[in-house]
Amino acid sequence: MQAIVAVDDNWGIGREGGMLFHLPEDLKHFRRLTLGKTVVMGRRTLDSLPGGAPLKDRHNIVLTRNAALHVPGAHVVHSLSELWQALKDTPPDQVILMGGGQIYALLIDCCDRAHVTHVRGAWPAEHCFPDLSTRPGWRLVHRGEEQKQNGLHYAFCEYENAAPRPLDQLS
Ligand SMILES: NC(=O)c1ccc[n+]([C@@H]2O[C@H](COP(=O)([O-])OP(=O)(O)OC[C@H]3O[C@@H](n4cnc5c(N)ncnc54)[C@H](OP(=O)(O)O)[C@@H]3O)[C@@H](O)[C@H]2O)c1
Repeated sequence: MQAIVAVDDNWGIGREGGMLFHLPEDLKHFRRLTLGKTVVMGRRTLDSLPGGAPLKDRHNIVLTRNAALHVPGAHVVHSLSELWQALKDTPPDQVILMGGGQIYALLIDCCDRAHVTHVRGAWPAEHCFPDLSTRPGWRLVHRGEEQKQNGLHYAFCEYENAAPRPLDQLS
C-alpha cells in the first residue's frame, strides 16, 4: 500500500472537513497516481469529496464503524480485518491510502511508500499527517523541484518505509 497526501510545513492536512489549500496541480498529481487503482479512505474524507461521492475510475474502499452506511459505488468496510479481507488479493502497489487524519494515523506504517506534496506555509489545521521526517523506518528518497501555483510554493516528494507492517498484524 502507498499513501498520498498534501501537507503544510507542520504536516497539517485539513480543517473543518476540507483541505487547507487549493492547488489544482496537486489534484492532477493525485488523479494521475490513483486512476485505475484501489483507494482507501475514512468516512469523513468521503464526505469531503465533491457531492460526498466516491471517486470515478477507482475502486473506492471506505472505512466506517456505522453498520448502516451504504455508499453506492463504494465498498464499505467496518474494521481493519474487513479491510484486510477486501485488499488481500490486490497487489500492494495498486492500493492507495488517501486519508484522512484518523486513517493515515492508523495505517501509515502499513505503507511502503508515501507520495507527499509539501506546500510551503503554515495554516491552522485540525488534522495532521504523521511527520515522516522523524518517524522510525521512513526516509525521504526524492524531493522534486519547487514549483509555484496560485501563489503557493510546493514540491512533490517521495518517502519510503524500510519495514512496512503487514495489515493483518494490525487487525
Ligand atoms: N491534505 C490531504 O491530502 C488530505 C487527504 C485526505 C483528507 N484530508 C482532510 O482530512 C480531514 C478528514 O480527516 P479525519 O481524520 O477527520 O477523518 P477520516 O480519517 O477521513 O475518517 C474518519 C472516520 O473513519 C472511520 N474510522 C476510523 N477508524 C476506524 C476503524 N478502526 N474502523 C472502522 N472505521 C474507522 C470513522 O467513520 P464513522 O464516523 O463513519 O464511523 C471515522 O469517523 C478533512 O479535513 C479532509 O479534507 C486531507
